[in-house]
Amino acid sequence: MADAGFCCEKCERLFPIYKGIAIFISNAEWRNFFNKQFLDYYFSDEWRAIFERALAQDDYLEAIKLLDKYSDDKKWQESWANRLSEPWLENEEQQAAVWAGNKRTIELGNVSEAKMILDWPTGPGECMRGMLDKIAKDAVIVSSEINLLTIFRLKKYLEAMGLADNILFVNNDVTKMPFKNNVFDLVTAFGLTVEVPDPDKALRETFRVMHAGGVMVGNGDFYHEGSESIKIADEMNLGQIATEERFLKTARALGFKNIELETAWEGLDTDDMPDEERCPLPARGDWSAYTVIRAKK
Ligand SMILES: C[S@@+](CC[C@H](N)C(=O)[O-])C[C@H]1O[C@@H](n2cnc3c(N)ncnc32)[C@H](O)[C@@H]1O
Repeated sequence: MADAGFCCEKCERLFPIYKGIAIFISNAEWRNFFNKQFLDYYFSDEWRAIFERALAQDDYLEAIKLLDKYSDDKKWQESWANRLSEPWLENEEQQAAVWAGNKRTIELGNVSEAKMILDWPTGPGECMRGMLDKIAKDAVIVSSEINLLTIFRLKKYLEAMGLADNILFVNNDVTKMPFKNNVFDLVTAFGLTVEVPDPDKALRETFRVMHAGGVMVGNGDFYHEGSESIKIADEMNLGQIATEERFLKTARALGFKNIELETAWEGLDTDDMPDEERCPLPARGDWSAYTVIRAKK
């Protein structure tokens, strides 16, 4: 079923490697993460149907095989390939600023200097794809993501383009990173602030796995304390570092230094889609700031 596996010396758990992807999620963990509420918040009907079938499997390896098969769909692979140039925001000025902010994030990471790079949560790989033509030939990018369907699609797409040689794909929860302390020169995190439940734990893990002098660059939304958006973020367990004050307090307490914040875009939400079609965040009409972050250990 799996190509190979390895055994953790500490816990003696056996972790599979499936088609070059290191799997650090158990069946119980993935069922727990992709629970009904998560599917309701984040998934389209198409993804939901696929996940419900995979979640019904008794064994994660059976689920993995299903997700692998679904990710072969040619239509999906094409939509994946095109996705990065497609706007997802209605406000053109905001969209342009968000794209510019993403470019700026990579620029601030000085990626050509780094040998060990961790990218989380890789998702569709906007950040990673923006780095691939800039990294050193002998650099390694460890791509960390919990959604295996997403990993398969990105891996297959990059392999078809001949771009996957420097990448190690890891299926894990970024709030529990399966890496030693002090190993990465650079951590890149597009979606640092409000994409991952318990983002403060992911930030703590990021600090742990960076070596002294290492750099973290990331970006994401900030809201105002007391706003409807921060209320929703707290309800969704995403609010821990979702205001500038909360982020700075947490990052400083963890030991991050030289923290720089650049606002790529700020303003009021202008999205007028019906409630059931729009992201819950930011709350309708609310203020948010798309912020680029750089910090050192
Ligand atoms: C918007 S995407 C991130 C964008 C991505 N960094 C890029 O550059 O394109 C958010 C991703 O976070 C992933 N995610 C959410 N919680 C996670 C967790 N605890 N561990 C790992 N990945 C997680 C989701 O599966 C999703 O793919």
